[in-house]
Amino acid sequence: MKVGFVGLGKLGLPVALAVESKGHKVYGFDIKKEIYDQIKNRKIDYKEKHANDLLKKTKIEIVELKKLINFSDIIFVPIQTPHDKKYEGINDIPKTRKDFDYTYLVNGMKMISKELKKIKKKKIVIIISTVLPGTIRKKILPVTNKYTQVGYNPFFIAMGTTIDDFLFSEIILFGSENKFVSDKAKEFYKTLTNSPFFETTIENAELIKVVYNTFISTKIAFINSIAEMCHRLQNTSIDEVTRALSLSTKRIISPSYMRGGMGDGGGCHPRDNIAMSYLAKRHNISFNIFEAIMLQRQKYNHWLAKLCLKEGKKSPIIILGKSFKPETNIVTGSPSIYLYNSLRKKNKNVYIWDPEVDNEDLDNFRKKNKINNKKICYFIGTQHKAFLNTKFDRGSIIIDPFRYIKKREGVKIIEIGEGGKIK
Ligand SMILES: NC(=O)c1ccc[n+]([C@@H]2O[C@H](COP(=O)([O-])OP(=O)(O)OC[C@H]3O[C@@H](n4cnc5c(N)ncnc54)[C@H](O)[C@@H]3O)[C@@H](O)[C@H]2O)c1
Repeated sequence: MKVGFVGLGKLGLPVALAVESKGHKVYGFDIKKEIYDQIKNRKIDYKEKHANDLLKKTKIEIVELKKLINFSDIIFVPIQTPHDKKYEGINDIPKTRKDFDYTYLVNGMKMISKELKKIKKKKIVIIISTVLPGTIRKKILPVTNKYTQVGYNPFFIAMGTTIDDFLFSEIILFGSENKFVSDKAKEFYKTLTNSPFFETTIENAELIKVVYNTFISTKIAFINSIAEMCHRLQNTSIDEVTRALSLSTKRIISPSYMRGGMGDGGGCHPRDNIAMSYLAKRHNISFNIFEAIMLQRQKYNHWLAKLCLKEGKKSPIIILGKSFKPETNIVTGSPSIYLYNSLRKKNKNVYIWDPEVDNEDLDNFRKKNKINNKKICYFIGTQHKAFLNTKFDRGSIIIDPFRYIKKREGVKIIEIGEGGKIK
């Protein structure tokens, strides 16, 4: 099939490469010209498994929108729907709540529909972007016309593993009002994957997508509350508690995200939760669980900051890790940056460094910032494997919310979620 991608960002480009890898002809269009350099130079600057390998051999054709629309049988639209920067999750949540910004998506759909009208041809246009329930009907469909055959197909992918998550998805979620559109999409997906095709209304698809993400945030918020409790209760250990819960696969579903650690992060989860808390407020839902989830993330962050300030009272504090999860350089919605921001408000002697993000090693980073002290309070903000080999000076303190740093001579390790034994 001939498949078009309008928007070749962090989601669009890797998915376009995945579609191409299954033998389809792919056309791309983006309003940001820098995106074309990534394709021309055959390299992206964010870590995305398989993407750089596929880029090396790609034959994706970058064309004008008009041509893309003319050539493609199916057009995918992964255009950004950003949340205001202050809802990213790297600071306390502001008092007011807001919906995502749909300007880009509305404009993109307007442009596509205009071109379709010109050629008077009906085409399938599949929106991937994340939106709150009700948005497609209220804001997107009104800017389309009879030639735009809209389907809504949000993906359950995690940044860094987009291609595998797309090709081996738990379900293909597809919202549409038009049987022809969903049948065509189903046929297309059969050429890509064996994942079950879940057909539903547009509104259900919109809701399922954000609820999927916020369910993960709920798991993380819940288990971090228990980690904090274990930290305060003697003879309890968060890892022992989650080991038991993880074996309870009948009711508690799966062990994923069931490890005490840092708060939820990334480009999707915190912002989806905040947006859902806005929706719950707007509809006067009797208990706003999304608000509670975000507040847990916030209070937990404040508690960790307090712990750092207590342990690092007389020494500099260095947070190790900026990225929102291990072995990536993506920092969007990072809970460790959030911790850094919280600490900076109280103490100027706080630093943050990440081996995946910064172009210098820890020694140079310390030299540059004139951190000559032997005694440093380190906080492990991201569970990078590299920290297992980091040399910590005697007298250092390490606060480890993941409990994976091994014992070191002369170094005090504080494992978050370990209540200690009753003596
Ligand atoms: N990145 C992810 O992992 C991920 C996962 C699930 C859902 N999503 C959702 O997918 C959507 C896209 O996310 P992203 O991370 O790829 O965003 P992004 O900002 O990286 O990419 C969006 C791209 O669309 C382009 N664009 C904007 N308007 C356009 C137009 N009119 N015509 C052509 N191109 C246009 C932008 O220039 C940009 O390159 C968002 O709604 C996001 O919430 C993203």
